[in-house]
Amino acid sequence: MERLGIDIGGSGIKAAPVDVATGALLAERHRIETPQPATPDAVAATVAELVAHFGWTGPLGATFPAIVRAGVIRSAANVDPSWIGADAARRFADATGCPVTVLNDADAAGVAEMTLGAGRGVAGVVLLLTFGTGIGSALFVDGHLVPNTELGHLEVDGHDAEHRAAASVREDHDLSWKHWAKRVDRYLEVVEALFSPELLIVGGGVSKKADKFLPLLHRETPVVPAQLRNQAGIVGAAMASVAAHPPG
Ligand code: BGC
Repeated sequence: MERLGIDIGGSGIKAAPVDVATGALLAERHRIETPQPATPDAVAATVAELVAHFGWTGPLGATFPAIVRAGVIRSAANVDPSWIGADAARRFADATGCPVTVLNDADAAGVAEMTLGAGRGVAGVVLLLTFGTGIGSALFVDGHLVPNTELGHLEVDGHDAEHRAAASVREDHDLSWKHWAKRVDRYLEVVEALFSPELLIVGGGVSKKADKFLPLLHRETPVVPAQLRNQAGIVGAAMASVAAHPPG
């Protein structure tokens, strides 16, 4: 079965039709720069442009980098504050004429990784953490998602964790891998103490460079890189669309 997946991020909005059974992208991924300011109207117009690019007419899924409850955005750590309280699912549906499912970006990546990637078949508590502009989290219990966990905002040593250990902090402050890995290790130590997961999956763009920092961590829990890389959001969004709007 085919669904369109759209991954909404702070710098780019990416989409592709996905074979939901295999996670394969059925056409080349198309990316449009995120409009600035990224207001609800501007982002909805970009979503409509992507839908038109693929000539898509059926149900689709979209990720969003914030708390999403029943399609409504409930936080705005790294997005335009005008999103708070906006019904993203309804706005995107109005702009495209398609039934739209919206979920948190890390939750979408987690759904894809648990089904087709690093978390496949792993029982018990599994956590996927995405390191990018912020830190996203997806918590699974025996493969079932507990949505909107927002563990990137855990307070660690008096700081919002993502302000110390997001991948963007390494880049913005020109930290060495060693220095940044120490911060990530401390963050994971807190997460490990609170959740005792079977497995920690590290996602986000930085997972491509896993060899630079995973060997520097000292966790008891196995820590592995995500396997679907930058496609996880698109694939997870497409999967969520099937769960919300089953065929037939
Ligand atoms: C947001 C989360 C999001 C994460 C990754 C955090 O700042 O609060 O909702 O999943 O960034 O984009």
